[in-house]
Amino acid sequence: MSSPTARPARKAVIPVAGMGTRFLPATKAVPKELLPVVDRPALQYIVEEAARAGLPEVLMVTGRNKAAIEDFFDRHPELESALEKKGDAERLAAVHESTDVAQVHFVRQGEARGLGHAVLQASAFVGDEPFAVLLGDDLIDARDHLLEHMLAVQAEHGGAVIALLDVGRENIDKYGAVAIEPGEQEVVDGDQVVRVTGLVEKPPVEEAPSSLAIIGRYVLPASVFDVLRETPPGRGGEIQLTDALATLVERGEPVHGVVFSGRRYDTGDRLDYLKAVVRLAAERDDLGPPLRSWLREFVADLPAEGASSS
Ligand code: G1P
Repeated sequence: MSSPTARPARKAVIPVAGMGTRFLPATKAVPKELLPVVDRPALQYIVEEAARAGLPEVLMVTGRNKAAIEDFFDRHPELESALEKKGDAERLAAVHESTDVAQVHFVRQGEARGLGHAVLQASAFVGDEPFAVLLGDDLIDARDHLLEHMLAVQAEHGGAVIALLDVGRENIDKYGAVAIEPGEQEVVDGDQVVRVTGLVEKPPVEEAPSSLAIIGRYVLPASVFDVLRETPPGRGGEIQLTDALATLVERGEPVHGVVFSGRRYDTGDRLDYLKAVVRLAAERDDLGPPLRSWLREFVADLPAEGASSS
């Protein structure tokens, strides 16, 4: 059993080896994590979130065709001096933001054997400390403090902490689903904290233990690596992080869930990605006002569903 740790998590692991098939053909040559959400790659939001939560050491678990991610987080001296010469301070600052935000390291996954296997590649980097895992498809609004809440819960209870969201029963088969202990729950800054009693990866709707889904944020104890080494392939023939967490529960390690009550933007499929871009752009100070007024006109002119547009 792990006891509450005096040592807080300082490191973040971001798996980026996925093939991005839902965005083909764009992702044939561009990693899906670099697709722009407004004007920044989705991945930059994730790294900024980790840094804001006090995790400046980031490891990306990459795979084939992901070299552009390393370039993105590296300095670009020619571009920087060209912008300096032009006196374009604003764009220069935008370029620096991508490299200054965190210390980014890389490790290759080698074979794509699932999320659990990707996380296992981080064991040497993480060592013996609790650490966070952030998945790139879920963006959490910068005004909400999900990861900070999760880190506080982990520091208090030890073990693992996962982010949960009620996605409704009809959608639960796309996610890891959890069973929780009933009864009174602790609340951290609006987010409910629950004790997780079981987990199952992408269950059929009728077998799901609840409509609470794992969204892509985890704070994990280093003991998860030993469990992952022994976790057999599960759903889809892949080594599932969800299965390793289920083993932690069986072994009596505390696993808590933080039920997120804030704003989440899903960039995992095309329609949700489009919605995320529009929502985030509409809220920006620079693009928001003209976009919102255009959107109002655009929506007013939309033909009713079923009518043909010429
Ligand atoms: C992964 C996890 C799943 C979790 C989801 C959140 O699935 O395996 O448990 O609910 O991320 O986005 P994926 O979306 O990679 O299939």
